[in-house]
Amino acid sequence: MKPVKIGICGLGTVGGGTFRVLEDNAELLAARAGAQLELIHIGARRDNPDCPVGDVRLSRDIFAVARDPEVDILVELIGGTTVAKELVEEAIRNGKHVVTANKALIAEFGNVLFAMAEQHNVAIRYEAAVAGGIPIIKALREGLAGNRIDWLAGIINGTGNFILSEMREKGRDFADVLAEAQALGYAEADPAFDVEGTDAAHKLVILAAIAFGTPLQFSDVYAEGITRLTPQDVSYAEELGYRIKHLGIAKQSAQGVELRVHPTLIPEQQLLANVNGVKNAVVVEGSAVGSTLYYGAGAGAEPTASAVVADIIDLARDLAVGQSPQLPALGVASAAIRKLPVIPMSEVVSPWYLRMEADDKPGVMSQVTSLFSAQGISIEALIQKAPSPGETRVPVIVLTNEAAQGCLDAAVKAIEALDSIVGKIMCIRVETLGS
Ligand code: HSE
Repeated sequence: MKPVKIGICGLGTVGGGTFRVLEDNAELLAARAGAQLELIHIGARRDNPDCPVGDVRLSRDIFAVARDPEVDILVELIGGTTVAKELVEEAIRNGKHVVTANKALIAEFGNVLFAMAEQHNVAIRYEAAVAGGIPIIKALREGLAGNRIDWLAGIINGTGNFILSEMREKGRDFADVLAEAQALGYAEADPAFDVEGTDAAHKLVILAAIAFGTPLQFSDVYAEGITRLTPQDVSYAEELGYRIKHLGIAKQSAQGVELRVHPTLIPEQQLLANVNGVKNAVVVEGSAVGSTLYYGAGAGAEPTASAVVADIIDLARDLAVGQSPQLPALGVASAAIRKLPVIPMSEVVSPWYLRMEADDKPGVMSQVTSLFSAQGISIEALIQKAPSPGETRVPVIVLTNEAAQGCLDAAVKAIEALDSIVGKIMCIRVETLGS
């Protein structure tokens, strides 16, 4: 059989991992693909000492790979949305199939790139863009194809989960753990993408588009990161029987879809609550199958390479038998993709965790509770901590029943205006995830 010829652009963390997996498992991969996978061209502006490229052609101009008439599949692993977009477009124009791990590129420009790929009769695969080594895209697009997806929720940023786990388990400092995540190759080039929720928002949009058959709607996602969380919140949540996780949540209802990324309290007995370190996990609720959970390494060279190579094999299987890969990019025919309204956050309902600083004097709690009740919000639990020695203020923790954010914001504004409440109130959503 004709070998399938591969070009890789980018030899950083994921590029290096992909190079090694292709080399180490060559025989096995050829057997699975039904053809030899030949890495014939690498485009990299810098060498990677862990990847001796040997006889493989190396170009400093990565566009030379996209224009190489011999290359069947271009693997884009340079990241970012400027040069990477131009590179993918050039590859498509030159009739190459594309494999990418680039979530920002797919989330922000996927609609345009998929249409362009369809016109040129080539495929774009992006399993590695979401949740590292977990084959969640294949699960949604293929394994769960018989289901209506009602919702999905996941820990989809490994760096953020690593930071939260280390803070909770070892009381470590945020900045210190982030520096370690960077050294381990988990974090984005700009780690603000990890800790401010953008990376998880990119991934959520991709999952939601496949799950619900919608276009990629990155500008409509609500994204909040983990930077405002404090060790106190982590420990109060624990006292109440919850863990704080940074979740991406997509839900479908008659009103439209919810697309949101934010810190969330989840009951400690939930499987997701026990996903720690750089691991990711996604729960998907399907109409026929019920609840399913996908778990594994969410970042790192080899886990991400595992997903990149799976896509290469998928494409190679078709190419080996002379067939053009036909699987639609979002799992449904492009003509069937329809935009659903995104529900504004002010209307999104959930229970809430709140923490405030109150003067330790009679009557404060009754003022606070009456302001919640004025907004129709009922209180599930209220804890007033003892004041520290010499302090006149006490932390007050409130768990509410379900409330729309609009009502909660109005209650919080009124409570913050009380003389007896000091500073801003910390508000974090609670999710029970169907339990
Ligand atoms: N920075 C990302 C994360 C890498 O930590 O999840 C994997 O997409």
